[in-house]
Amino acid sequence: FVPTMGYLHEGHLALVDEARRHADVVVMSVFVNPLQFAPTEDLARYPRDPEGDAAKAAARGVDLFFLPDAAEVYPREPRVRVVPGALAARWEGEVRPGHFAGVLTVVTKLFHLVRPDVAVFGQKDAQQAALVRALVTDLDFPLRLVVAPTVREADGLALSSRNVYLSPDERAR
Ligand code: PAF
Repeated sequence: FVPTMGYLHEGHLALVDEARRHADVVVMSVFVNPLQFAPTEDLARYPRDPEGDAAKAAARGVDLFFLPDAAEVYPREPRVRVVPGALAARWEGEVRPGHFAGVLTVVTKLFHLVRPDVAVFGQKDAQQAALVRALVTDLDFPLRLVVAPTVREADGLALSSRNVYLSPDERAR
């Protein structure tokens, strides 16, 4: 299982290749999770391309492409969140309060919906990967977590859907 927020690039597709090494059936989800965005963040303008994503996923051999809308994942206002604990207190968690609670909550829901044997996450989001490992271990999810290496541009920049936001100067920095 490869959970993503879409606007797929080679980094996501490398996760599909990794999933294929561990499983006969590969499921990919594309869901821009409102719960992990603060009101001041980029939820509305987060890049989206569902049709392009479906085509890229199919071309890479994804067997099941899951593209739920927000009402399907959150049919009612969620009352419960997964508390990420001390691992979320610094780095990205420090500047994005609530972000990792939103991530772990949707990852929990996606794990329950998909029920994967293996879940593949990118090393690029290292703190997220560590928190998902803690989630799987501490809450006894019956799955194996695989963390796959970061895919980079020729100049070393990690591939990311949000790279489209960068000006040439920001990109160079
Ligand atoms: O890394 C991401 O794209 C997201 O945080 C994830 C894991 C799909 C949860 O929304």
